[in-house]
Amino acid sequence: MKLPTELFQAAAEYRDWISSFLRIGEELVYLSQDDVKGIPLPPERVRDLVEQSLIAYSAKKTDMPSKIALHPLQDTFFHAMPAYVPELFAAGIKWGSCFPENRRQFGYPQAQGLIIFNDQLSGMPLAVMDCKYITEIRTAAVTYTAIKYLAPRDAVSFGMIGCGVEGRQHTKNSMTVLPNLSTIYVYDVFEDAADSLIADLQPGIGAKIVKAASYEELVKNSQVIASATIAKEGYDPVIKETWIEPGKTILLCEGHTLYEDAVFKRADKYIVDSREQVEQFVLYGYYPFGHPEIYAETGEVAAGTARGREHAGELIVGNNFGMAVEDMFVVRAVFDYALEHGIGARLPL
Ligand SMILES: NC(=O)c1ccc[n+]([C@@H]2O[C@H](COP(=O)([O-])OP(=O)(O)OC[C@H]3O[C@@H](n4cnc5c(N)ncnc54)[C@H](O)[C@@H]3O)[C@@H](O)[C@H]2O)c1
Repeated sequence: MKLPTELFQAAAEYRDWISSFLRIGEELVYLSQDDVKGIPLPPERVRDLVEQSLIAYSAKKTDMPSKIALHPLQDTFFHAMPAYVPELFAAGIKWGSCFPENRRQFGYPQAQGLIIFNDQLSGMPLAVMDCKYITEIRTAAVTYTAIKYLAPRDAVSFGMIGCGVEGRQHTKNSMTVLPNLSTIYVYDVFEDAADSLIADLQPGIGAKIVKAASYEELVKNSQVIASATIAKEGYDPVIKETWIEPGKTILLCEGHTLYEDAVFKRADKYIVDSREQVEQFVLYGYYPFGHPEIYAETGEVAAGTARGREHAGELIVGNNFGMAVEDMFVVRAVFDYALEHGIGARLPL
């Protein structure tokens, strides 16, 4: 994808603006985890940026090859995630990883990595930044967008499976997108994670957060269910198809790991962030029974070119495995703020 001619002047002006803060080609900005986290990005801005990124991707206004992966140990991965967004003059790559045993083994988070952000007119690196917080907030914002278009807006119950980094962000977002919630069920195989989520988040949330005793209790009682646990290889589902009533909205951060395959095959609408990426993941073995027929991409539903929820009885599954364009939209905002406010260290190239 090439920079449209009409944007060339604006791209040159953006580069001039960057040059007033940074010697492009001689140095780059390094943003640590704390630097990135300290940048004031209101949640509604992040949600808006992420929705725009989903729409731009599905409208084919971005250049984003499917992520390529390495799988060094069982259930682990590195993903190389490049994206170019012409309208934002943003190009870069995330090198992210997920090692589910990290917390137990080393005390590290499961998901981490770095992002390189480049000048699109010269290709020079402009910044290297931690990706943990960006991944955290943009992933929850994808689920937020999916809920907005796929769930009944008057839903009174929400279930969160996995109470880690993503589970917390998802739970925080849930009341904003579903203002009538009266109960939020949470479940985690590591019970302390559920307990500490409740202790930390309950004071700021109007709905009652209830620790579910089992997957079954959570699934049967929640109209909208999100999960962020571990992307597992192989097929060992813990959620039975018979527990799933019509009308539920099921949103996945870790692919098909938790549910029996029949849930996906039975869905009235099966929606993904990227059709192309799903095909790539078939090659990695994530869909041993093949993927269900894809009704639409999340960005098509958000743009209104495909319908979201049409009636209360629909079973809708949204499988959003994550896209580099989501990162790039947030990265551009982070980079601009950091530059303008002198945040981060300057490193020579
Ligand atoms: N789709 C995306 O764009 C995207 C982005 C980031 C992370 N993720 C995925 O989200 C998941 C969670 O990431 P995180 O950063 O929140 O990790 P985390 O380690 O902070 O939290 C995961 C939580 O899930 C719990 N858990 C693990 N297996 C479980 C199971 N079978 N049932 C219930 N709970 C279980 C763990 O005890 C932990 O508390 C990972 O699979 C990661 O790959 C997806």
